[in-house]
Amino acid sequence: MSPLHVTRTLPEDATDAALRADVLHGLTITPKWLPPKWFYDARGSELFERITELPEYYPTRAEREILATRSGEIAAASGARTLVELGSGSSEKTRYLIEAFPSLAAYVPVDVSESALTQAGKALVAEHPRLDVHALIADFTAPLALPETPGPRLVAFLGGTIGNLLPAERAGFLASVRSLLAPGDGLLLGTDLVKDEEVLVRAYDDAAGVTAAFNKNVLAVIDRELGADFDPDTFDHVAVWDAEREWIEMRLRSRTAQTVKVPALDLAVDFAAGEELRTEVSAKFRKEGVTGELAAAGLELTHWWTDARGRFALSLSVAR
Ligand code: SAH
Ligand code: AVI
Repeated sequence: MSPLHVTRTLPEDATDAALRADVLHGLTITPKWLPPKWFYDARGSELFERITELPEYYPTRAEREILATRSGEIAAASGARTLVELGSGSSEKTRYLIEAFPSLAAYVPVDVSESALTQAGKALVAEHPRLDVHALIADFTAPLALPETPGPRLVAFLGGTIGNLLPAERAGFLASVRSLLAPGDGLLLGTDLVKDEEVLVRAYDDAAGVTAAFNKNVLAVIDRELGADFDPDTFDHVAVWDAEREWIEMRLRSRTAQTVKVPALDLAVDFAAGEELRTEVSAKFRKEGVTGELAAAGLELTHWWTDARGRFALSLSVAR
């Protein structure tokens, strides 16, 4: 069995510095805003896995349906020997791809969540003893140094996580993905699709309150890492559909007027009663928009698959 290789591309204190910079900036601007990557400590990653099993949260099941039925076609169209996966999390759905690619030599999962990455990596090494699994603890919005593995390369970005980037971030992100690819290499992209508001809001405000706990977990991360005194119980989880920008926005609404101290930043942050802290956007897409954004980054969309109910799409595009 080949060993699991784990590479941390940033020293731990760089993660700490990035969190400090994001919290200092995000809590001192109006409206207040924190980037969603800070949800994913070990507890946040576990909560996300629970979200994927909720009856209201359809994207994971819809994407799994596409992968279960189309992985053979994806493998034939791509012919990749290295599969790189950004924001791989548990790599649970990726197994359909790994099993469908006949000459896959290497799998490179990339994630900020060390716990999710090592847990998934160990399981994959045990299940696929001949596969070179090279896990990368890294921020996919920063330049990535990928290990030397055989081409062609397919980069997978599943789950609709691209929707958690703002439009300007998406353009920069897709350009940097393109720079990881040689001509003929591919990008397999999961995008959640625009649909009925009620279905969308329910997916982000479930009856069991798991998404609320996931949203509030970012406050627990800041409390633990920066010594802050956020009391998650004094905030309400809010999920709203922005019909103009076609994205769901998750927010945390302060129940009362309060001041939160962040000692590591020597900061006191005032919240008015009802003031909202934005924690995530989750953009929903249409085929024309995805095709155009890919084309702007030098990627030509060659395949578009949806689940039977047309809720979610997987697209394959090729670097030209
Ligand atoms: N692809 C999986 C997991 C999606 S959850 C699925 O489809 O189910 C989003 C994943 O992206 C989490 O594992 C989270 O830790 C990771 N992530 C979020 N922002 C990131 C960033 N900036 N860099 C690297 N990983 C990130
Ligand atoms: C990871 N990402 C695609 C999820 C989403 O649906 O935007 C994160 C999430 N936020 C709330 N529920 C799930």
